[in-house]
Amino acid sequence: MYPAGTLRIDELSAEERAVYATLKPSHLPEHVAIIMDGNGRWAGRRSLKRFLGHQQGAKSVQLVTETASRIGLPWLTLYAFSLENDLRRPRAEVNFLMRLLKSFLEDNVQRMMDNNVRIQYIGRTHELPAEVQEKMRWAEETTARNTGTTLTLALKYGGRSELVDAFRSLAAEMKAKNLSPERITEEDIHRHLYTAHMPDPDLLIRTSGEMRLSNYLLWQIAYTEIFVTERLWPDFRGIHLLEAMADFQRRERRYGGLGEGCGEAEAEMGQAKIAAG
Ligand code: FPP
Repeated sequence: MYPAGTLRIDELSAEERAVYATLKPSHLPEHVAIIMDGNGRWAGRRSLKRFLGHQQGAKSVQLVTETASRIGLPWLTLYAFSLENDLRRPRAEVNFLMRLLKSFLEDNVQRMMDNNVRIQYIGRTHELPAEVQEKMRWAEETTARNTGTTLTLALKYGGRSELVDAFRSLAAEMKAKNLSPERITEEDIHRHLYTAHMPDPDLLIRTSGEMRLSNYLLWQIAYTEIFVTERLWPDFRGIHLLEAMADFQRRERRYGGLGEGCGEAEAEMGQAKIAAG
């Protein structure tokens, strides 16, 4: 159940409201993470330059965030720029993505304020260009007191490098406190992740149909439900977020257990004999 104070259902479109009405308020995901893929293909299918796909993708970021904030989704985490994007894309595209991020923040912080959205970041953001970091800090500070959706942009992010950073800082802590490695728990690792202050994602959405995790939130998605859609990110809207949530609600989350009908399974197991020989 989302905090009632953050709901602005009357601001949803009629189509969004119709899907929202089918959702069970008691089983809404607290945290949705999205791998936004397909900007290039979106542009290619229209014989446009790739950068226009990214530009359109930035519009989807704003629109999806606004729907998330209207329904009171507490956490939305978007994969906006990976370590691999930085290493493997042509410099001109990387530079364009940096300029786009900067102008996205400049143009949308007021809308984030109007929607009570708090902006944060995860990733090796200290490696981004100084002027981008400056704009990011400004956007984070300006929106810091908002109480609705926390929009986290993963920037210069990689799941494995997050684990490396977590283990480095955990090892330094263990050394300072003179603790032995046997004392390390899952909770200790969680405390040192970029996402230490958030719940793990309940739902991971990937657009454009690829069945890959692409080094995203590797530790955090251990029990996350995955929803892959063929829709390309620049065509993804709030209504598609709500549809993914409806699909999520049809799943049974078992966390390695047996879920519903578990009493029956227990009775069967009790009666079963192990075949000899
Ligand atoms: C993948 O498209 C998308 C990215 C490189 C990351 C997402 C970036 C945006 C949505 C643009 C701006 C974001 C913000 C926050 C301003 P792709 O180029 O890999 O698509 P393709 O696989 O079809 O080539």
